[in-house]
Amino acid sequence: MEKIIWDESFSVGIQEIDEQHKELVRMINKLIGREDISVDSETISDILNEMTQYAGYHFQTEEQYMIEYDYPDYLSHKKQHTEFKKKTVAFCLDTMSYKETIPKEILTYLKTWLVHHILKVDMKYKSFFKEKGLR
Ligand SMILES: [Fe+2]
Repeated sequence: MEKIIWDESFSVGIQEIDEQHKELVRMINKLIGREDISVDSETISDILNEMTQYAGYHFQTEEQYMIEYDYPDYLSHKKQHTEFKKKTVAFCLDTMSYKETIPKEILTYLKTWLVHHILKVDMKYKSFFKEKGLR
């Protein structure tokens, strides 16, 4: 599977959030880099767990800004974060348990979700926060 390549089209205009998105891309790329490597399931779930935790931390950052600046789409945006969290926690708990390689559906989901979420959903707040003076 091709890794995610970060370019300026991914930038939401807020440095802190861009850095966090880059870290998530890095983590998902790390999983993609291991897709055909057979490792013990513990290693796989460790990386996936780490990614899930970081995603949670990142969503919190975004949501705090949304609350602070009264972002109108806050609730529907938060819902998307929650859905991703539920899904990845489920991946961690069930699917990973006895696997030696990372199932392709998981990688496809993580990659597609993140790219779509940044480019289509997060991008909606770009001009809103810019107007509020956030950089
Ligand atoms: Fe988001």
